[in-house]
Amino acid sequence: AKKAVLGPLVGAVDQGTSSTRFLVFNSKTAELLSHHQVEIKQEFPREGWVEQDPKEILHSVYECIEKTCEKLGQLNIDISNIKAIGVSNQRETTVVWDKLTGEPLYNAVVWLDLRTQSTVESLSKRIPGNNNFVKSKTGLPLSTYFSAVKLRWLLDNVRKVQKAVEEDRALFGTVDSWLIWSLTGGASGGVHCTDVTNASRTMLFNIHSLEWDKELCEFFEIPMKILPNVRSSSEIYGLMKAGALEGVPISGCLGDQSAALVGQMCFHDGQAKNTYGTGCFLLCNTGRKCVFSEHGLLTTVAYKLGRDKPVYYALEGSVAIAGAVIRWLRDNLGIIKTSEEIEKLAKEVGTSYGCYFVPAFSGLYAPYWEPSARGIICGLTQFTNKCHIAFAALEAVCFQTREILDAMNRDCGIPLSHLQVDGGMTNNKILMQLQADILYIPVVKPSMPETTALGAAMAAGAAEGVGVWSLEPEDLSAVTMERFEPQINAEESEIRYSTWKKAVMKSMGWVT
Ligand code: G3P
Repeated sequence: AKKAVLGPLVGAVDQGTSSTRFLVFNSKTAELLSHHQVEIKQEFPREGWVEQDPKEILHSVYECIEKTCEKLGQLNIDISNIKAIGVSNQRETTVVWDKLTGEPLYNAVVWLDLRTQSTVESLSKRIPGNNNFVKSKTGLPLSTYFSAVKLRWLLDNVRKVQKAVEEDRALFGTVDSWLIWSLTGGASGGVHCTDVTNASRTMLFNIHSLEWDKELCEFFEIPMKILPNVRSSSEIYGLMKAGALEGVPISGCLGDQSAALVGQMCFHDGQAKNTYGTGCFLLCNTGRKCVFSEHGLLTTVAYKLGRDKPVYYALEGSVAIAGAVIRWLRDNLGIIKTSEEIEKLAKEVGTSYGCYFVPAFSGLYAPYWEPSARGIICGLTQFTNKCHIAFAALEAVCFQTREILDAMNRDCGIPLSHLQVDGGMTNNKILMQLQADILYIPVVKPSMPETTALGAAMAAGAAEGVGVWSLEPEDLSAVTMERFEPQINAEESEIRYSTWKKAVMKSMGWVT
């Protein structure tokens, strides 16, 4: 049968911590036409360590592309209409590979990994000049979260990495770099690059000059020769070298949280979004200004949509554990079989019955930055059952968001009047209602929650030399929204929140 022609299409890879997706959009309407998703394994070789196999990540991308193309074929859509591909990815996760063989030299050290805690402590004592040395250049606190210390650990502890660096064979990258290098040809000519948003999460990148920072590289003792070239978030990096989309340009690259900011059309100063993935990340566009937080938020590069386009910055509240707590209830406690079942359990009781769950599995990120915290479940009685714990887990995601929203409001001065949300967990209606109750402002969700992929597709489609997507806001004026209004009274909301804060205090200081 003759295949329907819809106009130019754009694909997006969304490589998150828990899963990989490939999605194809119509560039004229932003309609999602087809997608495929594959879950990614996480390995926990020791307490606090989190690793992933870079090869599995790469294969999952190929698998998702192939499967999505098959599905498009079944819909009678010609894949030759796909004019560009964007990449969005879990940020900070660190990969080192051999440029001659294309083989990773160690597993990917995932952003949640805590093995560098002692490295961070000893580096903190050696910060030159004032304590602001790292933060003033990068916008980030010195923490296990960011790539520089993970890379330091690999250089200190993995003989294969040390040898490859000595022999000039090693390349470093976050997941975007690893994927783009591999997809554009790998050992036979792959392009070694990253974009400004991903670079800004390494703790080696100067967010003012938009270059790798020599002093930071000296401080962390990172050889600059292994770092990727830093490019804008929207330009042609190279062409796909294999698979169903061979020859298609890769022309968009954004860390997943930046991609969601773009996909939610937060192009103006003061516009914010919160994405519920493995973690939970609230980003507020601060325009061309770098705003430094007084309340535990990060300053990060929001996007730079073209080589000659200006850079935009954001304030970010990062929560390490959101969807990951549901996966933990599934994989470690076994109280649910699928992540979706959490909603049914929580609905059965409609309250945590005084049970509070602080999922500080990787310490606490914003606004506390407390690596000594560990997860606790408290307020238990003989009445407590798995449904209450499930409810408390959902509430924990909402309370953590409340904490970063409060910090954001204090830093920005003007409180957000509503919260724009996206990400897989936003399909959970109980979670969304709880979120509105706990924030005491409306929560607004686009009917197409795949905004991360959409942002990457927009960047790819708008790139010079592709030009199939115009970034005018009216493009998406047709987007429909679902709204959740607060339903409990403000007093009740405050009481619950203050009990949560008590629980947070109890979670701190477990590891010394
Ligand atoms: O900083 C980590 C973040 O990029 C991970 O995103 O979607 O896997 O929760 P996600």
